[in-house]
Amino acid sequence: MKFFIDTANLAQIQEAHDLGVLDGVTTNPSLMAKEGISGQENVIKHYLAICDIIGDGAVSAEVIATTFDEIIVEGEALAKLHPSIVVKVPMIKDGVKAIKYFTEKGIKTNCTLVFSSGQALLAAKAGATYVSPFVGRLDDISTDGMQLIEDIRLIFDNYGYETQILAASVRTPMHIITCAKIGSDVITAPLSAITALLKHPLTDSGLATFLADHAKAAAAKV
Ligand code: E4P
Repeated sequence: MKFFIDTANLAQIQEAHDLGVLDGVTTNPSLMAKEGISGQENVIKHYLAICDIIGDGAVSAEVIATTFDEIIVEGEALAKLHPSIVVKVPMIKDGVKAIKYFTEKGIKTNCTLVFSSGQALLAAKAGATYVSPFVGRLDDISTDGMQLIEDIRLIFDNYGYETQILAASVRTPMHIITCAKIGSDVITAPLSAITALLKHPLTDSGLATFLADHAKAAAAKV
């Protein structure tokens, strides 16, 4: 399973990259705004800085446009920035048409804001590289986000769709583990959820004991 980090924060992207487990980054307009990134020039600079850290990973850059012609213009400009850029397109009618267009042009896409298996099926039919079902936002409205990942896995496997399931709006380490059990191709999560996977109290207490025993043995030798 691939690990993407869901942030536009360069320090966090660098930290996850340094851990050696990072395959990509997902951003969205809200995450860019959170970092105070606005204006075309700054947005472009920021995507390039992310691509510099990630190297040949995948960096999802979301279009703001919502009509076919405008999505194409914006998406093509984003795709030209760096070979790692994946054009992130919302699950709307013009978005699906744009995904089909980008697919035919060999431009990678991530269909975002997916909340049903029917939407995921349409994105796969259009040839999306990734489809992003938002697990956490479904959980927020008392709907089982993980059930959606399971349903999409079944549908894609039934027909051999190559579109990768990118579980998004993943917020906890348990979300990540459940996605891995189901067979999600990718998860995108905040740094806190990724690093939480490191933690186990028995690891901490076991390491403390090993180090204390080693120190005792070393002191006894002197
Ligand atoms: C997906 O690519 C989105 O950026 C993201 O996962 C949304 O997560 P949120 O629901 O925690 O905002």
